[in-house]
Amino acid sequence: MSTIKPHGGTLINRYKPDTALDTIIKEIELDSFALSDLELIGIGAFSPLTGFLGKEDYLSVVDNMRLKDGTVWSIPVTLPVTEEKASELSVGEKVKLTFEGEVYGAIEVREIYEPDKEREAEQVYRTSDLAHPGVAKLLDRPNVYVAGPITLVKRVERGRFQSYHLDPVETRQTFTDLGWKKVVGFQTRNPVHRAHEYIQKTALEIVDGLFLNPLVGDTKADDIPADVRMESYEVLLDKYYPKDRVFLAVFPAAMRYAGPREAIFHALVRKNYGCTHFIVGRDHAGVGDYYGTYDAQLIFGNFTEDELGITPLFFEHSFYCKACGNMASTKTCPHGKEDHVILSGTKVREMLSNGITPPPEFSRKEVIEVLIKGMQKSVHA
Ligand code: ADX
Repeated sequence: MSTIKPHGGTLINRYKPDTALDTIIKEIELDSFALSDLELIGIGAFSPLTGFLGKEDYLSVVDNMRLKDGTVWSIPVTLPVTEEKASELSVGEKVKLTFEGEVYGAIEVREIYEPDKEREAEQVYRTSDLAHPGVAKLLDRPNVYVAGPITLVKRVERGRFQSYHLDPVETRQTFTDLGWKKVVGFQTRNPVHRAHEYIQKTALEIVDGLFLNPLVGDTKADDIPADVRMESYEVLLDKYYPKDRVFLAVFPAAMRYAGPREAIFHALVRKNYGCTHFIVGRDHAGVGDYYGTYDAQLIFGNFTEDELGITPLFFEHSFYCKACGNMASTKTCPHGKEDHVILSGTKVREMLSNGITPPPEFSRKEVIEVLIKGMQKSVHA
């Protein structure tokens, strides 16, 4: 097995498909966000969490980025229900967790409490601006939190990309089988463009393997859909990456867009998947102008390496430089902006949906072909 310890010391497993839940009458209907949290807690990706956070842990995470026992944890993982639903529930009982009528698990209700969402927004997202997609989601979800340990009984069914859904126990075994001691994890909610490829391959120069781990849970409407991205990763890996040095599997979590806080969370989760290193580039998990370009790197300074248990690898803003004739970053290139090929995500999406091809210095042509096809399909759907 992989030698890196999971966060908190033990890889949690609360997936118990044989648990009989038919005697439980009450139900909580989950949204897709909570469903993904349930599954990720169940399979140990969120170790040491065994359920949705109780009030003390919640307040401690919101204010100090730690669980109440001091373990680093930067994002509140909570189960919101309506006041009406909360009034039907009592502490001490078990309740089924359903999604679109199917039972996926159960929670043993330990606490029912009201969060301070304004504070949660300010602390976790550094803003209470409703234009921030993470804040909008937080405020849109119901206003009472139910806490307690969960059991997962059913896995979410996936389509064509099912084989990329591996649990932490499986990815850990894979890395061991491949003989990788140092594994660098890469989070993305985007297609892999040349800048991503550059920082991945630069990291790969000093470790044994790259774990390409795109997030495929809920994202904001204008992000490129996960199935289109998956196809683009396949063609890219096939053509430009050494097969025995890269492993692709997905991270089925919802995107929070919490920038710095989410970078810590992303790193801890990749440790659970078996990574020893984690890439943090420019504006990791950011959106709009809410975070400084390197805030998601600076936040790591709040914790010791021991507390995190995974080594972050920081990268400067990277781009293709025409004067250098190669990929470079602000750290390695002496030339000015006029030589740099830099396109914003918004600009690229606009080009793609109009069938315009971004330059090969920005993205591999095979990737662009998949994206244009995918974007046009979604426009006509
Ligand atoms: S994220 O929301 O998943 O972080 P994205 O898919 O754009 O967004 O980024 C994936 C990773 O690559 C993050 O660590 C991010 O900081 C990094 N990154 C993205 N673009 C660049 C770039 N041009 N230069 C350096 N790092 C980058």
